[in-house]
Amino acid sequence: MKKPFYLTTPIYYVNDVPHIGHAYTTIACDALARYKRMKGCSVFFLTGTDEHGLKVEKAAGEAGEQPIELADRVVQRFRSLWEKLLVTNTDFIRTTETRHKEAVREFFRRVEANGDVYLGSYEDWYCVPCESFLTETQLSGGACPDCGRPVEKLKEESYFFRLSRYTEPLLQYYADNPDFIQPPSRRNEIVSFVKEGLRDLSISRTTFSWGIPIPGNERHIFYVWFDALLNYVSALGYFSGGNEAGFWPADVHVIGKDILRFHTVYWPAFLLSAGLPLPKKVFAHGWWTIEGKKMSKSLGNVVDPGSLADEYGIDQMRYFLLREVPFGLDGDYSRQAIVGRINSDLANDFGNLASRTISMVHKYFDGEIRQVPAAGPAELRLQEKARAVIAEVDRHMNGLAFNKALVALWELVSMVNKYIDESAPWVLAKDPAQSGHLAAVMAACADALKIAALLAAPFMPLAAQKLWEALGGAGTVADQQIDEFDVAGCVPPGTRLQKISALFPRIQADAQA
Ligand code: MSP
Repeated sequence: MKKPFYLTTPIYYVNDVPHIGHAYTTIACDALARYKRMKGCSVFFLTGTDEHGLKVEKAAGEAGEQPIELADRVVQRFRSLWEKLLVTNTDFIRTTETRHKEAVREFFRRVEANGDVYLGSYEDWYCVPCESFLTETQLSGGACPDCGRPVEKLKEESYFFRLSRYTEPLLQYYADNPDFIQPPSRRNEIVSFVKEGLRDLSISRTTFSWGIPIPGNERHIFYVWFDALLNYVSALGYFSGGNEAGFWPADVHVIGKDILRFHTVYWPAFLLSAGLPLPKKVFAHGWWTIEGKKMSKSLGNVVDPGSLADEYGIDQMRYFLLREVPFGLDGDYSRQAIVGRINSDLANDFGNLASRTISMVHKYFDGEIRQVPAAGPAELRLQEKARAVIAEVDRHMNGLAFNKALVALWELVSMVNKYIDESAPWVLAKDPAQSGHLAAVMAACADALKIAALLAAPFMPLAAQKLWEALGGAGTVADQQIDEFDVAGCVPPGTRLQKISALFPRIQADAQA
């Protein structure tokens, strides 16, 4: 049986249109999902939209719409963007769906049955844009410490979750599962926060109506995070026998650093209370700035991922986002940086390797890979490198170190480029006695390129497929099992290579100014 692998993106608020930050998480998850499929896992890759709450209610009011109309409109933007960016999600959950609402109510009943819910009264500061409750001491100069905007004082009857009961169990879980919170710097931050002791958490509101009513007291609406976090189990149909495939507990929740506390404190506490197993890992990535500045509507510098893909290409954009910044750290998007990556890494290194290999095979052997004598030391070194890179990529992908996986792949690409320069096929071609050697050089390059196409596929599905076909690969590269390939002879003798246009056309830096 295939090993299940369950990964999730956050569900995105529908009061905003998709931007580069949303695309980042989703593309990272997509690369991992594609990779895990190619490693033989049965993958469930979930994304979706977070549609309830005051923020959405307000945005709809401003647009003169009902909240559901706003949601229906914006959800389409997300869906078509993911399609365009070749995102292979298994499911798309909307929190306004019946399956989700039912799961939230059932989950609440379990938490309540465990004695973790009580009705109390709530008075605190609240940041509407962040949907977060804040204590007096958390405020920064009287404003929200995260976004800097003004906060509101709220006092109302509210249901509470006994979060305070979970301080010790959570600390125990972090201690027993050192890899639960990634990267490690984030783990320390959360452990210190929980060590301070946890306050009970308000989980209902009576001041707005756009949400899921609490069973038994419908005047109360679930606090948006109690509702939203449950998407991870509601999409599986967890309470209606939907976990037969064994996807829960999730292998990894990929999120941005701003929503770490919700995922590593509240969410596991809710799960402990409801008696469900806890996710294996939560990975918080960093934030993108744009040309050195914070991305914001008021600055007018919000980057639309769809236009980015139109301008530079889908593969190019996917590559840039995952290569440019170590996953977990903050990064900066700039035109110069993406053009630089495209022209140097993609066009010069990878694209050029593909085109020079294919054109030499055409020039010297009429496009055919020939039967060759036993590999020499240089060819063996290349094969060794390809095998090492396959193993390295695996290690890095398991650690969500996408940029390191790509750096490893590029080491192979560079080694093949260097091997060509050192073997000098153009010199060998002048001497008929070297014909066997020349054929061996061409075969070694084609073999290594095929491995590169396999490893590139999760990141750059279009170029990888094009290269795969050019190398005579059968079917789609995405359907291959990486472990079934060994570099030696993976492009078998007799294969005819197809000429292709440039995998990654160069971008005229001047035209971009
Ligand atoms: N709805 C909640 C998540 C609920 S999950 C149960 C939410 N939605 S969001 O649409 O505001 O944000 C979704 C994700 O986008 C977050 O992980 C956030 O970190 C990420 N990003 C928002 N701006 C970003 C950047 N500028 N850079 C990178 N990621 C950013 O939060």
